[in-house]
Amino acid sequence: MSATPAQPPEPEGAALLRLPDPAERTPARKDDHLRLAAQTASLHSCGTGLDRHRLVHRGLPGRDLAEVDLTTSLLGRTLAAPVIVSAMTGGTTQAGVINARLAAAATRHGIGLALGSGRALLRDPSLLSTYVGADRPPLLLANIGAPQLLAPGGLDDAARLVELLDADGLTVHLNPLQEAIQPEGEPQFRGLSSTLAVLCASIAPVPVVVKEVGFGLAADDVRELVEAGVAAIDVAGSGGTNWALVEGQRDPRARDVAAAFHAWGVPTAEAVRTAVAETRGRAAVIASGGLRDGVEATTCLALGATAAGFARELLLAAQDDRAGDAVSVLVDQLRIATWLTGAARSADLGLHHLQAPPTGSVARLGDATDPALRVGPLAAEAAR
Ligand SMILES: Cc1cc2nc3c(=O)[nH]c(=O)nc-3n(C[C@H](O)[C@H](O)[C@H](O)COP(=O)(O)O)c2cc1C
Repeated sequence: MSATPAQPPEPEGAALLRLPDPAERTPARKDDHLRLAAQTASLHSCGTGLDRHRLVHRGLPGRDLAEVDLTTSLLGRTLAAPVIVSAMTGGTTQAGVINARLAAAATRHGIGLALGSGRALLRDPSLLSTYVGADRPPLLLANIGAPQLLAPGGLDDAARLVELLDADGLTVHLNPLQEAIQPEGEPQFRGLSSTLAVLCASIAPVPVVVKEVGFGLAADDVRELVEAGVAAIDVAGSGGTNWALVEGQRDPRARDVAAAFHAWGVPTAEAVRTAVAETRGRAAVIASGGLRDGVEATTCLALGATAAGFARELLLAAQDDRAGDAVSVLVDQLRIATWLTGAARSADLGLHHLQAPPTGSVARLGDATDPALRVGPLAAEAAR
């Protein structure tokens, strides 16, 4: 191994001017994010595309509402409903309050909870209580960013994080656009797919989930992730929180650059369809990005997702100390929507529970090559 080259002496006063190491700025940034992500200026200007899909309504649902089974198996754990709280926060006092409320809600309703980036915790294990507390949901996921995984010692850090949090799995977030916009960002993603493959093998049997943060994933991404051996892919598509716009509110130059990305990415509906088609059952697909209610979550399940994730909606609820009630409403909506399709279990939902949009797409209905439109009768046709 070659010796580290001697550094030139630092000019006088430089230490005062130098910006702190990116990780040192993490706590202030996490609190900025909690504040800014709640604002409507942080939302994509485009939608999720889910409004193009409509669940078939059955006047004869065939069973009582209470008979509908929402139980879901995800990453080896059993959830009472196919819902997770998407990764958000940790590392500050404010984050601790939000995480405690989210954990209480997730535990009460038996759903999954993905924690926010564990970068601050890795630097300072005394921050543990800002991530986890008394309530333990049935599925708890640790979270690390791609740049941190690629940094020297990143694989060891990933394993240490899972251990510190006693997590059931590890989520790696892909946020290339956010890193590119953030003044202190680290847009270095070279070699990530092979590092993810090493991670999946080295951390097994702990499952690895890879997610975007609100710009979705392309078919090639999904193929690479499946080859790397990930257990689940969370598409985190566009249509909800836009992390370029969030970062743009923290810095004037970043704002100018971010402005062009107001509608960037793969809308959630398209990202889910693509991920389901490319994984072909080899990894679970989690639908997220801009989801607002349980009907949208049910639509994603019909598109083939195993579970649906909510970030901003549950952040707003947790900020108002009503996370438990918000999850209760989501789960009720999901149960009612599933029942009304005639499905006995949410796990049975499929393309045959969707109808083609009633208006405005008649000319495109014949385009069976567009997987977006392979719903209802077209799904049956495609399956023949
Ligand atoms: C305040 C906040 C902080 C977030 N921090 C993280 C994070 O640390 N790690 C991560 O993977 N995603 C993070 N995200 C991204 C979300 O998990 C999610 O992918 C994204 O916000 C899109 O979902 P939404 O439209 O429901 O908000 C954060 C989101 C919010 C709102």
